[in-house]
Order: sequence, then structure tokens, then C-alpha cells
Amino acid sequence: MGPDGVASLSRPLNRALYACIRGAIQEGSLAPATRMPPQRDLAVELGLSRNTVMFAYEQLMAEGYLTARTGSGTFVADTAPERFLNASVIVATDPQRQGAVPMPGLSPRGQRLIANASASSTQWGAFMPGVPDLARFPHRRYAQIAAKLWRQPHPEWLSYSHGGGLPALREAVAAHLRVARSVQCDASQVLITEGIHQAIDLVVRMLGTPGETAWVEEPAYWGIRGVLEVSDIGMVPRPVDAEGMTLPDTGAVLRRPAPRFIFVTPSHQYPLGAVLSLKRRRELLEFARRQGSWIVEDDYDSEFRFSGQPIPSLQGLEPDAPVIYIGTFSKTLYPGLRMGYMVLPKPIAAAFQTAHAELYRAGHLMTQATVAEFMQAGDYAAHIRRMRPLYARRRAILAGLIEQYLGPDALHEHASNAGLHLVLRLPDGVDDAAVAARAREQGIMVRPLSRYYMTPSVQRGLLLGYACVPEESIAPAFHTLMRCLH
Ligand SMILES: Cc1ncc(COP(=O)(O)O)c(C=O)c1O
Repeated sequence: MGPDGVASLSRPLNRALYACIRGAIQEGSLAPATRMPPQRDLAVELGLSRNTVMFAYEQLMAEGYLTARTGSGTFVADTAPERFLNASVIVATDPQRQGAVPMPGLSPRGQRLIANASASSTQWGAFMPGVPDLARFPHRRYAQIAAKLWRQPHPEWLSYSHGGGLPALREAVAAHLRVARSVQCDASQVLITEGIHQAIDLVVRMLGTPGETAWVEEPAYWGIRGVLEVSDIGMVPRPVDAEGMTLPDTGAVLRRPAPRFIFVTPSHQYPLGAVLSLKRRRELLEFARRQGSWIVEDDYDSEFRFSGQPIPSLQGLEPDAPVIYIGTFSKTLYPGLRMGYMVLPKPIAAAFQTAHAELYRAGHLMTQATVAEFMQAGDYAAHIRRMRPLYARRRAILAGLIEQYLGPDALHEHASNAGLHLVLRLPDGVDDAAVAARAREQGIMVRPLSRYYMTPSVQRGLLLGYACVPEESIAPAFHTLMRCLH
């Protein structure tokens, strides 16, 4: 689909046409590879405006039902997402899963979620992307704080949470984000979550209305797509270049309905690594203000930048920006902690805190008290300071091996010197999913880059996480991977 593809689900005629074509694809009367009539012809035939047909086609392309081939027209896609989902029994096709599992009776949402599931059954070892070095977690110090708190636990810490999490932790998070990420906030705006997935779920439930759309980076973190799959919000992929998420030209913006949400990783685009340029940041903020969209800034790993100045958050760039900032302790502490945070604009903060308790019956206050003290005592900042040079060295070793064996072009050109993973590019014809599966058989965990795309025009490559691999293990693991590549 074109870079400006936007869905219009709010206009009844588009909606009707979209639903009609989608239904025909799902029930098989429009078979895969069928050539669709040109938009102009269909508009004349049905007595509709050309725009109506264009909106319907673009939504179907965004959802993967149709594909456009330059110069030859629009076709029914071979991989229409619900073609197999509508069967009463579906099969999990992820090769990483333990065999195929039939799942009868799931709702269409449940089926969509399972069909797109991407969480790996193994989460530790070379080169698992996105996992920090858990062997270096200062567990003795953490356990000392936890043990002290457990000797005299506050009864409230053992009860349900309400109001957005433990005040001491919200204070500590606000203080950290003001200093480390230039986020403009105080503790009243902070909400402690169980991580970024939950934060996105809450945002969409609280601010989204069925039929609205969200812009999602293309490629993007698969977890966002999973959460959006089970909402009634349509996803519109926005291509990414060396300056981060691209924006449509002004004419296209005016012709199409505004997205309700814009999900973006401005400080370190996931997974390709670009930094959203200042010019784009300003344009994005202006666009969101004008169109009434919410920007959701996913700042998942920005504590780990190895050269140059830290990239300040988008949220802090302008006062009263329409930005919901979300972050996680998964990379700085450990993913199993299941703890993250949101920073909300003041007018909606209290409503979100109440909704969080109503929806998820939040808790883990004892753990929150431990993390709060860990932060207040300076252990959190010290741990990040210790891990930063360690990850920088591991990154340099892996990047050096890739350059030595595959040449400088094998590293993705958008990558910045930051984060916990690298992207190794593969030539277009290579089946990166097959390479990843082969590597896995040899005990090496990598993720195929093509899995991060929604549209058929994918780049091939592998995501290699280096943070969890001790220095001395990087070269042996890399050589095993090389054998799988050849
Ligand atoms: C871009 C991005 N956002 C969010 C997450 C997950 O965050 P959490 O562990 O808090 O759910 C990840 C994990 O790798 C990620 O890469």
C-alpha cells in the first residue's frame, strides 16, 4: 500500500464497501490472486465516488486483504489474515511453537490474536533480542531491601492497589524521568503498570472508539500489533526511514480521517534503530494537535545509548504536548518483574488511574515498595551506569564480527549506537524466518525482521540481541549463526 494509506471506517459508504469486499474474500468468493477492478471502474459501476472506493481499498490493503502491484493493479492477497481464521478450527503456525495446536471456538478477536502471536517460548540465551543481562542483576542488594521491607510490611502494601500505584514509586519514577529522559511530569501524572502491553491496552480502551485508526510504525514491535488486534482500532502502517516514522504529505492528510493514535518509538525506533529527527518531532506534534490525535511515545530502552548525548523524550519537547509517555523496567531491571509506567497529561491522569484499578485490579505493592527504595537509594541509577559500558562493548564486538564476515552493509543503516539489539540485513530473496528456525535448532535465538512488518513489502534480516550474551560467548554463537546462514 502507498505511504499515505489511511482507513476511513467512519464513513458509512466506505464502510459498507469495505465490509462487502472483506466478506467476499473471507468466504472465498473472491479467491486469492483475483485481480480487483480498477478503482475508477468500480466507482462508476457502483455509482460511488472514487474516494469512497479508494478508502475501502486502502483499508483492505492496510489489513492485508488486498495487495497492490505497481503497474499491474490490485489483487486479493494470498495471506488474507482471516481466510483461515474464520474456520472453526485454527492452527498455530508459528514454527517456534511446540507443534500445531487446534483451537476451536475462539472469538474472531481471539483467533486474530493467536494467529499473530509472536512471543518466543525461549527467552534467554544468545542472541535473544530485547533481554538485558539478567545474570548481572544486583539480586543481593534487591533482596536486602525486600527482606527489610518484609520484616515489617505495611498492611496497605499487601492489599489491592488503587490510584495508580505506590506513591513512593510514582515519586521515584517521576524524578528519574525528569532527569534521565527530560519528561515534564510530577508524580500525580505517573501510573504504574504491568508493562508496555498493559499501558497500550489501557490507552486504547480509555481513548479509542471502535472504527477509529492508529498509525503504527512499519516495521514495529509485534507486541503493539497484538494488543491492537484485539481492540476495534484499525492499524495503518507508516513507513520508517533514517529519520524515523514518515509523515504523509499535507494534501493526503486533509483528504483522510485523522488517526486517533500515533504509536511511535522516537528515541530508538524499534526494531530498525532510527532516531526521530527534531524536524519530524515538531511536525508530528503539530499534526497531532491539529488533528486531535494522541501520540503514544514508547520509550522502551532509552537508558542505553552508548555515544553522543541522550535523546530527550518527545513528551518533554513542548509543554502540554498531546503525548502519553510509556516506559518499562523490563530492560533496566528484568522483564519478569512485569512493571512499567505511564506519564499522562494532567487532565486525564486521575481517570486513567481509576480505570487501571477497575480493569486490572492492580497490586504488587510490596514489589513496588522494593523498587521505590532501590531507586531512591541510588541503586537503580548505579545499575544502569554499570550496564551501559558492558552493553556498549558487547554491541561493538558483535558489530565488528558482522562487518568482518559479512561486510559493512550487513548492518542496518538506520541503526544508532544504542539499545540491546542489532539488525543484520539479509538479501531480499532470503527467507529470514527459515534462517531463524535453523538457528534455533542450533540453540541460537534470533528473530526474523520480516515478522515485524504488516504489509507485504518487507525487508529481510535478523534481530540479534547482544545484551544478554557474555563477551566470550559472542564469537562462538556468531559462528554457529554463520553456519546456519550459509
Ligand atoms: C518497542 C518495545 N516496546 C515494548 C516492549 C515490551 O515492554 P514490556 O516488557 O514492558 O511489556 C518491547 C520489548 O522488547 C519493545 O521492544
